[in-house]
Amino acid sequence: MPRPAVSWRGPADGEFGDCTRRVAGYDPIVLSLLCLGVPPMSSDPSTSTKPAGDLTPDEAAGELARLADEIADHDRRYYREDSPTISDAAYDALRRRNAEIEAAFPDLIRADSPSRRVGAAPSEKFAKVRHRVAMLSLDNAFDEQDVTDFIARIRRFLRLEPDEEVALTAEPKIDGLSAALRYEDGVFVQGATRGDGEVGEDVTRNLSTIDDIPRRLKGSGFGRVFEVRGEVYMTHADFAALNERQAAEGKQVFANPRNSAAGSLRQLDPSITASRPLRFFAYGWGEVEAPPAETQWGVYEAMREWGLPTNPLMRRVKSVEEIIAFYAEIEAGRASLGYDIDGVVYKLDRLDWQRRLGFVSRSPRWAVAHKFPAEQATTVLEDIGINVGRTGALTPFARLRPVTVGGVVVRTATLHNEDEIARKDIRIGDTVTIQRAGDVIPQVLGVVLDKRPKEAAPFEFPTVCPACGSHAVREGGEAVRRCTGGLICPAQAVERLIHFVSRNAFDIEGLGEKQVTAFHQDGLIAQPADIFRLHEQRDGLIAREGWAETSVGNLLAAIDARREIDLNRFIFALGIRHVGETTARRLARHYGTFEALRAGAEEAQMPEGKGDPGNEAWQELVNVEGIGAVVAEAVVDFFAEPKNREAVDALCAEVRPLEAARPAATSPVSGKTVVFTGSLERMTRDEAKAMAERLGARTAGSVSAKTDLVVAGPGAGSKLKKAEELGIEVIDEAEWLARAGEG
Ligand code: IVH
Repeated sequence: MPRPAVSWRGPADGEFGDCTRRVAGYDPIVLSLLCLGVPPMSSDPSTSTKPAGDLTPDEAAGELARLADEIADHDRRYYREDSPTISDAAYDALRRRNAEIEAAFPDLIRADSPSRRVGAAPSEKFAKVRHRVAMLSLDNAFDEQDVTDFIARIRRFLRLEPDEEVALTAEPKIDGLSAALRYEDGVFVQGATRGDGEVGEDVTRNLSTIDDIPRRLKGSGFGRVFEVRGEVYMTHADFAALNERQAAEGKQVFANPRNSAAGSLRQLDPSITASRPLRFFAYGWGEVEAPPAETQWGVYEAMREWGLPTNPLMRRVKSVEEIIAFYAEIEAGRASLGYDIDGVVYKLDRLDWQRRLGFVSRSPRWAVAHKFPAEQATTVLEDIGINVGRTGALTPFARLRPVTVGGVVVRTATLHNEDEIARKDIRIGDTVTIQRAGDVIPQVLGVVLDKRPKEAAPFEFPTVCPACGSHAVREGGEAVRRCTGGLICPAQAVERLIHFVSRNAFDIEGLGEKQVTAFHQDGLIAQPADIFRLHEQRDGLIAREGWAETSVGNLLAAIDARREIDLNRFIFALGIRHVGETTARRLARHYGTFEALRAGAEEAQMPEGKGDPGNEAWQELVNVEGIGAVVAEAVVDFFAEPKNREAVDALCAEVRPLEAARPAATSPVSGKTVVFTGSLERMTRDEAKAMAERLGARTAGSVSAKTDLVVAGPGAGSKLKKAEELGIEVIDEAEWLARAGEG
């Protein structure tokens, strides 16, 4: 495989390398977002592609058992550990598959079926709350003219005299998620999210964990019912610290403070919400017995007396001039606020006027949100860096000449992916326009072509991983290029090692996520084979905190117990993209030995390359039940990478994958290796191969001494000749069908 030179410059000290450790201030948030990558997502959550009704009872029972296990595992991660490893859509697909099989085989429904467990579906996580007063949204104003029009509309609607003063509250628009807090006789009794505005989710227990939200209101005037409305949010510093913690624990990292606040509030287990630093500002109300004042401002004063936090920057203003001055002031101070705001809200102060104005469609006529424009600037793109995420995704980012955008110094910006760079023709040395919108990650919008230096050349995206030098590939239709050196790539190492020892892979007792992370950090293990060489460091292990002679002895014994391992577990443990448990089992069953799989995969890319329809080994791989081109390509890519081959060699020097058990079929061809050649008349080649597998035979693409049987149709050529030379039994299609019991 051709290897272009790596044009990547590694991260400068403290830049991206250890960015998860930098939490203070704003810039590091941007950095941490760009460098953290995504939490590990299992690559093969999908199940068999066979329609549920076509499964045999044995297959159905097997799949139901596996689904029960897998779903329970995901439930545990999602609900208890707050670290799901598959997307909601993939999880739903597993449950749907389970339901389909159960519908087709009702006798096989298991006692531990996921369909019998209550409350596990994420979509039904919370009880619903119908809002007695709808939670509406705000109309937007984007410039001074829109604001002037808003006030003029109010004056017209209320038929105010020209000299009549119109007072408004002016307040920051907090970028979080809105919540409704119901107080009865001053006691917090129910809290809900906005939901669709009519019906929200009951998050009472979660909201009660937020320090800013009083359990009981102080003083008086709140009446029998007072429903407070406001915004739940997270500060920049708390967000960065939380993300750092999440990343260190291998849990979900959030894209921005708003998502983080929403994700933290919508937890099933309130103790998780309690551990997240959420805050609250009150800015309105829903159902109330009687408002405690005649004006919006007066209600805010009352709320503050009751112990509810309102934003300290709120102000009462009386003219368009004052409004515009307030807006400019808030915008200028936005960067140092410490939390995200995306505009300013103006509300008519007099409540009697608010009532007269009422609502139009989904927003009040008496309030408007004056949004901040996305902040833009131009600067020079000094370099393009490539960050390798923990799943091997290569993500480009711009290294910029530092520039202040809306009060924040920006040094890096996302470039999204390879295609985006090509589409915008972004070159190193270009002057680029960057934008920082509500979200905290700045992005490169485009190039100022007039300023392009003569020597600027189109950017060549690396085709090798900048972190480990393995080749990096793009799968059909995917925008992302990925490193294929999962086993040795330092950017992916910890995740891969954790996967390697996980329950359905090597399952080494006493060697879990925590130990693997610590051992890797201290340089004891870098790749899977190192685990099996840990005995060489026995003394060093015993000296470690929390370890002693016995525990180390137990660990080494548990490691030794895995020196022989089922082939399917071995294949799964390698972490080949798209090769999950099911696929690993299929590959094991088809190839029988690791050597056969490896030889097949290596041959599949030779000599004309993968995907070459003339290559028999490729055909064989692609035709393994449930594999297909995408998985086959991933398998070929994995074994094409010399560094993976070295890592696998090192592992095989320590570990022996066992030969896979063949299906216990008793057909006359079970256990035999069959080659089909020439054209078949009553079935396609794929059907014939599938039939052979069903009957417990192994199919091969070429004739060798290991071949037991050749099925030759008209037009058979060199393979038939070779079979005859080797004295291998040759039969025709009719005889094959007869032996298969289908003649
Ligand atoms: S008043 C009837 N005031 O912005 C509308 N909303 O775009 C009541 N928000 O759903 C909303 N800060 O989540 C109001 N000071 C503020 C706000 C604010 C943030 C959010 C709120 C609302 C959204 C509307």
